[in-house]
Amino acid sequence: MRLISTRTASSAETDPTNEYRGRAAYRQAEIRAEKYLEELTERVQSGQYAAELTEDFYVWKKGHVSPWPARLFRSYRTPDRQDYERYIQWMNAVGKLDDYLERSVSYLYMRDLGQALDNPTTQSRVRRTASGLKRSLLSGEGMQEGMPVDGFDTAVLYRWGRQEGIEDTVIWMIAKLKRVSENIPEGLSAEQAQRKLMKIIAGVVLHAREDMDEHTPKEERSRRMDEAVRLGYCYGLTYPFVDDLLDSALLSENEKARYSELIRRALLSGTVPKWDEWNQAFGSESGHNLALIRYIHSELGEAFEYIKSRQGGVGGSIFFEQAYVFFEAQDVDRNKQLEEKGYTAKQLYVPVILKSSGSRLIARSVSQMDEESGDQGFEQRTFYYGIYNQLADDFADLFDDLEAEAVTPYTYYWKHRLERPDLRSPFEMYWSVITYLIRDVYGSDPNTREVILDRAINGLKRARQRLGIPRYEELMDLLTSDMPQLNKVIQQMVKKAEDVEFFDKLLRDQMLIEMKKDREDRERFREQLDEIRAEIDAALPISSESPVPFVGDSLIGAANYSLAGDGKRLRPILARLTAEEGYGLDREAIMPMLKSLEYLHTASLIFDDLPSQDNADTRRGRQTLHTRYDGATAELSGLLLIQQGVKEQASLKGFKPERVLELIHYSARKAEELCMGQALDLKSRGMQLDVERLNEICFYKTGVAFEACLVMPAMLAGAPESEIRLLEKFAYHAGIAFQIRDDLLDAEGEALLIGKPSGKDAANGSSTFVSVLGIGGAKRAMWDHYCEASDAVKALPEGLRFLKHLLDVLVHRER
Ligand code: IPE
Ligand code: IPE
Ligand code: MG
Ligand code: MG
Ligand code: MG
Repeated sequence: MRLISTRTASSAETDPTNEYRGRAAYRQAEIRAEKYLEELTERVQSGQYAAELTEDFYVWKKGHVSPWPARLFRSYRTPDRQDYERYIQWMNAVGKLDDYLERSVSYLYMRDLGQALDNPTTQSRVRRTASGLKRSLLSGEGMQEGMPVDGFDTAVLYRWGRQEGIEDTVIWMIAKLKRVSENIPEGLSAEQAQRKLMKIIAGVVLHAREDMDEHTPKEERSRRMDEAVRLGYCYGLTYPFVDDLLDSALLSENEKARYSELIRRALLSGTVPKWDEWNQAFGSESGHNLALIRYIHSELGEAFEYIKSRQGGVGGSIFFEQAYVFFEAQDVDRNKQLEEKGYTAKQLYVPVILKSSGSRLIARSVSQMDEESGDQGFEQRTFYYGIYNQLADDFADLFDDLEAEAVTPYTYYWKHRLERPDLRSPFEMYWSVITYLIRDVYGSDPNTREVILDRAINGLKRARQRLGIPRYEELMDLLTSDMPQLNKVIQQMVKKAEDVEFFDKLLRDQMLIEMKKDREDRERFREQLDEIRAEIDAALPISSESPVPFVGDSLIGAANYSLAGDGKRLRPILARLTAEEGYGLDREAIMPMLKSLEYLHTASLIFDDLPSQDNADTRRGRQTLHTRYDGATAELSGLLLIQQGVKEQASLKGFKPERVLELIHYSARKAEELCMGQALDLKSRGMQLDVERLNEICFYKTGVAFEACLVMPAMLAGAPESEIRLLEKFAYHAGIAFQIRDDLLDAEGEALLIGKPSGKDAANGSSTFVSVLGIGGAKRAMWDHYCEASDAVKALPEGLRFLKHLLDVLVHRER
């Protein structure tokens, strides 16, 4: 073993200042990285790595290259990997799934958890995780041993939280992530920020999970999971708001320098400098960025305090020390220029070694209660491992990085290799890292050799596919001019070796495809909301030609007054999208139905606001009808609107008459149910209801209207009964979730924003989700209904997928 000795933080204990600690830690880390680099370079220069690797490949290839051309045995084609589920099924059918998952999970344990694969405990955990994963993949639940596989599905995420007993934490996280993405300025990708944050949180959660087993008491497990999620978020924030921000073109060079300095000071002192200092540092020059900086300041400040509150131990926090090393390395790396001709190998590689290991070291240390519990083996492995991963990524990103003029060992070599014959190819360095890892770090453990070589060959296979053979070969020639022998062996493996695929790659490819689709859908949905709202706004006013001059006109004027406020028009929008996207109905033909829905809804609001009911003074950002006019006008306008609704419905043309009749009948029934819901609601004032009763009331007073918006178009289109049942299921849960959000806004929202009074429910003694379950309980109930509604969407036809985005709007709305 030639492992280089590790960091010792003890010298800092004699020095009182954190500042010294941080800087000393950086220097120490640098020295260690320099030694590592020397070791790697020596292996390249002596050719030792090539000899070792050739030997390793010789052993390895027996499991991957069959002596017969594979074609002879392959009676059916591998399904396209883009078809995720079929691919997994196929792997299972040909008996490759177990190996595939075990290889993938092993790799994850090594890379993300810093585990040694020759450790029997690790081996049994790998096997357990892999078989759990297999079970959930084959059953299609989207859960892996209680860990969400697809972390971007809010329902899956929430359910995971429920299973771990941390639903409040997950609700907190969902809200935080949303705030972050709202605050991400243009020029920085909100999606990337969310993705990275989620990845970091998942990493910290994985570590916490690994430290527990089936003997950990349930409360203790929940407590640690809660902490892991929060710590993950707090630390993860530095990615969008430090790293990405400094990488972006959003700040001027001056601002960047000052910002870096503020972050440096925060890390060295463990406290975010006061806003005054930030404000001064940015000054007037960055007026346009000030709101963003202000948000970042408050969010980072909170995050720092939280992390600090979790770090105990005499030696203080190892987290800030490591975070400083990580930040400094990134900063050094970021400030390199591709044009610069004279970088030494040390300048090129040392920051890369430090930053690549830093992120993973931190993911563990952030949740470490004190230094003593740190695991030396973990620390060692992670330190050496980082650059392996980094070089693999830099290789894959070479052309993108060149375009962005980012300095990586690959881009630098690409650009300067001719005038700098002293530079060794980073590809050689990469293989040198691999042999060092296999032999020195992991002691030639066969499992480790297997997984690392699988991964390396897989990376090249993927590059060959992505770049196309000619371009790939050209790149290889350029990178391997000093290693022709070894390269022959490698390329042979790339062409012939099988069974080197990894699940996380499949997952990533799949996620990229789905995220892209999801984003396009969401954007389209947003646009549709605005467009349809405008169309409906224009169509709603009731024509003032009345058979009863004067009185009639003023009553119509009053009805139009209540229609004209800034209503969200959710019900007609929902009906329009269902009709058009779900059932291909004609836009013009269904307009009367949309109008009827908004008329009926507005009527219900007019009655709801009356002194005899909720007694509210404002609605849709203006005075309620009975305060603006009088009670009688309000009652009569309400009735008038209901009749207008029926009139519209009876004028539906281009559909079978019996369907229209059926629709009118259905609509009358739903209006009846709504009345009963309102009556139940009023009768239950001052009563302590159970959840079942609450659900019932909310369904009748609110849910049925949503149901009508979905079912009426389906009826016109003659949709099958089974589909109508699913629509009803969706409407039931989405409607209640919507009403819970309304109750929450009444309790927590601002009247100005919601356009109606807040605190009304409490004043009236109404029984709502908030009064019965409290804020926290109401939120949980809302997300429970969200999950159920989301299941219904998944079972509905493709054309109705917009309901997922609608559901998000319902639970996230601020008014
Ligand atoms: C309010 O409905 C009545 C409830 C069922 C909570 P909306 O919140 O949809 O009200 P507008 O139409 O946008 O004003
Ligand atoms: C009312 O619920 C539902 C209907 C009008 C049918 P709320 O009384 O909570 O509605 P808001 O808060 O006044 O809009
Ligand atoms: Mg009410
Ligand atoms: Mg009300
Ligand atoms: Mg309300």
